[in-house]
Amino acid sequence: MTITWQTSSSAGSVVQYAPFGGGNEELVLSATGEERAFVDGGNASGTRLIHHATLRELRPGEKIAYRVGDPVSRAWSERFWFFHKRSPEQIRAGPPLRMIAVCDVGHSDSTGVLDLVRAEVHGVDGADADVAEARPDLLVHCGDFAYDLDSRDGRTGDRYMDDIQPIAAYVPYMVSPGNHERAYNFSHYKARFRMPGVGAETETQNHYYSLDIGPVHLVAWNSEVFFWGEYFDAAYVNKMYDWLEADLAAANANRAKTPWIVVHGHRPMYCAKATKGYAYAAEEESRRGGWFTRAITSGKRALGLGKKHNHADDKPTCSWTNEAVRRGIPSWCEDEYRDGALGACGAREATEFLGEASASASASESQRSIFPIEELFYDHGVDLHFNGHEHDYVRYYPAYRDEVAGGENVTFERYVNPHATVHITTGSGGNEEMDSGAKFPNPPSRGRCTHDDAAAWCAFQSGWGPKKKSGRSADFTYGVVSVDGDGTSLEWRQYSAYDKGLEIDRFRIETSAHGPFKDRIRRGGGTTVDAAARP
Ligand SMILES: [Fe+2]
Repeated sequence: MTITWQTSSSAGSVVQYAPFGGGNEELVLSATGEERAFVDGGNASGTRLIHHATLRELRPGEKIAYRVGDPVSRAWSERFWFFHKRSPEQIRAGPPLRMIAVCDVGHSDSTGVLDLVRAEVHGVDGADADVAEARPDLLVHCGDFAYDLDSRDGRTGDRYMDDIQPIAAYVPYMVSPGNHERAYNFSHYKARFRMPGVGAETETQNHYYSLDIGPVHLVAWNSEVFFWGEYFDAAYVNKMYDWLEADLAAANANRAKTPWIVVHGHRPMYCAKATKGYAYAAEEESRRGGWFTRAITSGKRALGLGKKHNHADDKPTCSWTNEAVRRGIPSWCEDEYRDGALGACGAREATEFLGEASASASASESQRSIFPIEELFYDHGVDLHFNGHEHDYVRYYPAYRDEVAGGENVTFERYVNPHATVHITTGSGGNEEMDSGAKFPNPPSRGRCTHDDAAAWCAFQSGWGPKKKSGRSADFTYGVVSVDGDGTSLEWRQYSAYDKGLEIDRFRIETSAHGPFKDRIRRGGGTTVDAAARP
């Protein structure tokens, strides 16, 4: 367990701790960490001292009391506590793994969600009762913090870290990066958090990493790589893609022990509203624009923002940003892919971007892209992918290549043996970009996806389109994911701060055979979505 804290002047980096014995025990153990000076890139160039210390050799499931500070000056924090990560056996024998999933949480306008999450951690009465039966094992925040961590010379970020202390001091606060962290090459994000992989042989600076927790292999990836070419070049994306591929392959080999693969990143692949013939104009544009580095450096222009493109089959798709996340960067060798044999173009592309002497000629036309993340998820059977960025909650049916994939038996409430990854947008943590109830008295839109042009894969939404000035309030919400220790069932519930903690959605994924989806389909079952599940 790594503890992180901040001081305004240089100080020691020590955590004193002990097994929790009621609150007043002597903290007989200590761990010495490190202090890093972080200089903000803004005009004030303020320096913050950020401390990280790792506590090792803790027993699974053990409750630990601790404080942080400097033994020389005897300046200490108040006492906090946390439960160390439970073992798979403890989760099988005890309550399910419980994970809070929320993205897009601001310093302003987010108190409703943060108050509810604090109650999840400490109990509704806030009395620090031992709520082990119901407490979350961890919280995942998939991008867009504070709005923004660097705003007001970093003071907004400081306030935000204060906001989350009553949560993050007690429960692991796991992160992935969003577009609002991009300032000064994501420097606040890199400095203020400490995720697995930092300091390891493969240094990823919190951008991507994975860990096993009970029945779940949890993966964070950096969906911003396709949008900020000034920070992420082809070599960077190639390295992350190779890491992701190897990580998912290893996780697949370990399914007997850790059955679920759950991935989070900031930007969603799917959307509530699909539009015909709009997305992925990138193909033509980027062919004209040059090679990959130039394409992502020029960002939106290269990805064809606003340009119309008529797909051959003219099927509905999401926006160009969703498509970029789903399919990566388009290949420039479309003709060769179509012919089924890669020639000079494919060879050059492979050498230039993938660092390989040859490319696979087996990719079908619909796969013709570099870094096709959705294909990776499909090939390795990622069970659940959740995101933010869009400031709403949207739950989707299992989907693949812009189509509903169905499963053995998919109803509105239960997805039994789905045939593709289930995506969820849980990007309504609350922030100043959303229309709060104070400004718009009409309640948020909420329910099954019945709006005009609802995408076929859209099952349920709450607060869809809150930035459209529709006259409706946004719905500030968060998700709670419960995973049974035996690996067969994952339940997602969404709670609304607008309605003071009301549960607004609940569904389950039930899977008897985890693994690559093509194997699951071969094992049998239909590919249907229950007609009654559709509006
Ligand atoms: Fe975002």
